[in-house]
Amino acid sequence: MPNKTKIDYLGEAAVVLKNNDRGTYTQPAFGLYPHQWLWDSCFIAIGLRHLDIERAKMELLSLLRGQWHNGMMPDMIFRDEPRYRPERDHWRSWVNPFSPSDISTSGITQPPMLAEAVVQVGAKMAWPERRQWYKLMYPSVLAFHEWLYHERDPHKEGLVLQIHPAETGLDTTPPWMAELHEHLMPLWIRVIEKLKLDKLISLIRNDTKSIPLEQRSTISESLAMFDIQLRLRRKSYDINKILDHSLFTIEDLSYNCILIRANTLLESMAKSIKEEIPEDLASQIEKSHKAFEELWEPYSGQYYSRDFVTHRLLKTPSVATLLPLYAGCISQERADKLVKLLENEHIFGTAYPVPSVPPSSFWFNRKRYWQGPSWVNMNWLIIDGLKRYGFKEYAEALKESTLEMVEKSGFYEYFDPLNGSPAGAANFSWTAALYIDLSKIK
Ligand code: GLC
Repeated sequence: MPNKTKIDYLGEAAVVLKNNDRGTYTQPAFGLYPHQWLWDSCFIAIGLRHLDIERAKMELLSLLRGQWHNGMMPDMIFRDEPRYRPERDHWRSWVNPFSPSDISTSGITQPPMLAEAVVQVGAKMAWPERRQWYKLMYPSVLAFHEWLYHERDPHKEGLVLQIHPAETGLDTTPPWMAELHEHLMPLWIRVIEKLKLDKLISLIRNDTKSIPLEQRSTISESLAMFDIQLRLRRKSYDINKILDHSLFTIEDLSYNCILIRANTLLESMAKSIKEEIPEDLASQIEKSHKAFEELWEPYSGQYYSRDFVTHRLLKTPSVATLLPLYAGCISQERADKLVKLLENEHIFGTAYPVPSVPPSSFWFNRKRYWQGPSWVNMNWLIIDGLKRYGFKEYAEALKESTLEMVEKSGFYEYFDPLNGSPAGAANFSWTAALYIDLSKIK
C-alpha cells in the first residue's frame, strides 16, 4: 500500500470528529468519555474551525448551557440518558443553588481555554461576523473570569486556586498526587492498599474495562479523587464551606498560566467590541502578573504550583513547567531558561516530546496517563508559547514531531514519549482536532 499522504491523515482526523459528534457537542472518545467536557470542547472547536465554522461555533455555544448562574463553567455536562444517571446522581450538581435547573453538570471546573477557543474560531471570520460572535460569547467568558477571581482568589492575591486535581485537566499530575500521598490519603484507602484489595476495586472501575490499568490512574489515586469529590459534594460545592474546612487547595501552575493568557485574550476581545473590563476584574488581572513571579524558584530555575494555605512551592516537575511560555507573562530571560529544559533529553527533550513528566523524575511512568506520556493539547499550548517568545524553529520542530507521532500511532489520547507508541483511548477528539489545526497553521 502506498504511503499515506497528509490529505489522508486529515481525512481520518475529520472522521474521528464526525464519529464523536453528538449533534451540538463532540464527545472526547466513544465509551470512555461520553459527556461534554469543557476544555475538550475548546480544543475541538479550534480544529473544527477549519472544517465547518458553524459547527465550531456550536461546539462552544453548547458549553454555555452548563454555565452556572454565578459564572462557573463546569468541567462536565452530562449526557441525559438513563444509563448515565448514576454518574450524574453521583455528582448531584443540584445541591448547589447556582447550578442550572434544566441540565446536570459536575460541580468543579477545568482550565479556562474558552477565551482562546472563541478568538481562534473568530479568526476564521470576516470582521462584521467576528464582532457578532464576540458580542455573543463575551458576557459568558467575562462571567467565567469574574467568577474565577471572585471565588478562587479569596485573598485577592492574583492567583486562583483549584479544589480537585481534575480541575487542572492534568488529573493525576505529580504535584497534586505527591500532596495527596503525603498528606491527604484517607485512612480507608490506606487500609485497602494494605490489605491489597486493589484488584477487587479494579473490577468495578469503568475506565479499566477498555484501557489497561497501567495506563490509567492507580487505584489509590482514583479512590482518593473520588473521596475528594464526595467531600466537595458534602459542602454543596460551596467555596466558603470548602475553604472553612481546609480541603485540598492548590494554586496550580498550568491553570494559572492558561488563565493569564485567557485574560489577555478577553481584554483584546473587549477592546475590539468596545466593552470595558469591570474595574474589579481589571485590577485582579493586573495583580496576576506580579503574583505569578512568586511561583519562580531560582535554584532550579523553574516555576511551580503552590499550596494555597501555606504558600509552599510544590517542587515536583511536570509539563506545567513549560506553560509559562504560553501564559506570555514571563521575561525573555526566563523563557530562554525554560527552553533549555526542552532541549535536554533527560528533562523534556525525549524522542516524542513533550512528556507530561520528565524521565528524570521519580514519578515518570511512560504509559501512565498524566505521569509521563505526551499529550497533543499540551504540545499545542507549548508550540504557541514558543512562537510568542521568538523560538520559531523549536516551535516548528515540536509541531513536526507531534504530527509525526500521531501519523505513526493514530489519534490516541496520549503517547509514550520514548517511542511514540499509543496509549489511552483511541479516536480521541482533541488529538484529531489539534492534528488538523497544527497541520493548517503557520
Ligand atoms: C481526562 C483528562 C481530562 C479530559 C477528560 C476528557 O479526564 O484528564 O483532561 O478533559 O479526560 O477527555
